[in-house]
Amino acid sequence: MKILSIVGARPEFIQAMPLNLALKPHHEEILVHTGQHYDYQMSQSFFDELNISSPDYNLEVGSGSHARQTAQILLRLEQVLQKEQPDLVIVRGDTNSTLAGALAAVKLHIPIAHIEAGERSFDRTMPEEINRLVTDRIAELHFCVSQAGIDQLASEGITEKVFLVGDVMLDALLLVTPVARRKSKILAQLNLEPKNYSLVTIHRPFNTDQPSLLENIVNALNSLSEPVVFPVHPRTRSILHTIGAQPESHVKVIEPVGYLDMLVLEENARIIATDSGGVQREAYYFSIPCLTLREKTEWVETVDLGWNKLVGADEEAILDSWYTLNPPIERPDIYGNGRASQRIVEILTREGVNIDQNRIKPSYSSTHEEVKELS
Ligand code: UD1
Ligand code: UDP
Repeated sequence: MKILSIVGARPEFIQAMPLNLALKPHHEEILVHTGQHYDYQMSQSFFDELNISSPDYNLEVGSGSHARQTAQILLRLEQVLQKEQPDLVIVRGDTNSTLAGALAAVKLHIPIAHIEAGERSFDRTMPEEINRLVTDRIAELHFCVSQAGIDQLASEGITEKVFLVGDVMLDALLLVTPVARRKSKILAQLNLEPKNYSLVTIHRPFNTDQPSLLENIVNALNSLSEPVVFPVHPRTRSILHTIGAQPESHVKVIEPVGYLDMLVLEENARIIATDSGGVQREAYYFSIPCLTLREKTEWVETVDLGWNKLVGADEEAILDSWYTLNPPIERPDIYGNGRASQRIVEILTREGVNIDQNRIKPSYSSTHEEVKELS
């Protein structure tokens, strides 16, 4: 099969690596980078460190409002899809690149496989929730991380071609952690002792776009008595600056780190506090207690098992749990065993024959000039 994979944001680059390795012997993969993330530390560093071959296309859409970013991806991707005529489009997760990729494909009658299907936060103010709902509705193949995803899709009437495969992020983590342990010097660079510091990431609009919430979190971090490493997403950096937040000296505010450094920081942290979906799961994989700076999470199993606690952006709740969260010893394999990519490829190979090869391919009407006019 000729498969076109769409990536655009940091976690999608990481997930692209194990899937690319698994696809390579069996299928042709065309990699399209939408350009949603573009700073070196948010994009190219992952390609360099993970040895992912350069994208076949970079749509260079950059940042913008949701409408603008999504529309730019649609416009530019349509041309690539028309040219490449793939048999299948793969999208992952819940970003604007995911949604736009799925929409562009479905309009051209190209089947879509959605990785991380069925995850829900039940919070429709999150852009990601809308992206997931729409993508799942129009996808042909649904690859779920856990049984909860399958059950959720069933409750929405989606029961065909739904597969439990596990978490591709875990595949990446297991492949890369041994390399990270060998190569990363981040602990020495930051003068950190294993299990003697905490790690924090924040990038969700609900935490960054309400100054009082971000201030609450910074106040909580300032009250701690251990080193805190805080690799700052560019969205958060500019808002910290705007609100004049003053992290104390034990809070090490640094640029986003590469994946190898991030894995080492996670594995050696005493506790992790985050609003990231990927980092919540990685904390679990490394057996690190996690405080989630949100009111809800898609990764409910980690909360149910006592490894993750939802504390929102409430200063008191964050501080109450910081030194007291005490997960149980048991840490079952709730999101698979690191072979999700292989499972996905097995299923694609099997299901590929069922994809309607006689689908009508709509004729191409937009021109490059039209796209340039709009850009
Ligand atoms: C996006 C995804 C989110 C995912 C996250 C992964 C959507 C709606 N959100 O959020 O689901 O968890 O990626 O990190 O798709 N910026 C830069 N340089 C960059 C990228 C972004 O400066 O390389 C700044 C820009 O000011 C931009 C802002 O960060 O406006 C937000 O970037 P955007 O891609 O829109 O959303 P994320 O918060 O990164
Ligand atoms: N990550 C990274 N460097 C950082 C912060 C995060 O490599 O400075 C990795 C992290 O280990 C995880 C992924 O990026 O694999 C998560 O991305 P992010 O938190 O941006 O998005 P989400 O998972 O919430 O969609």
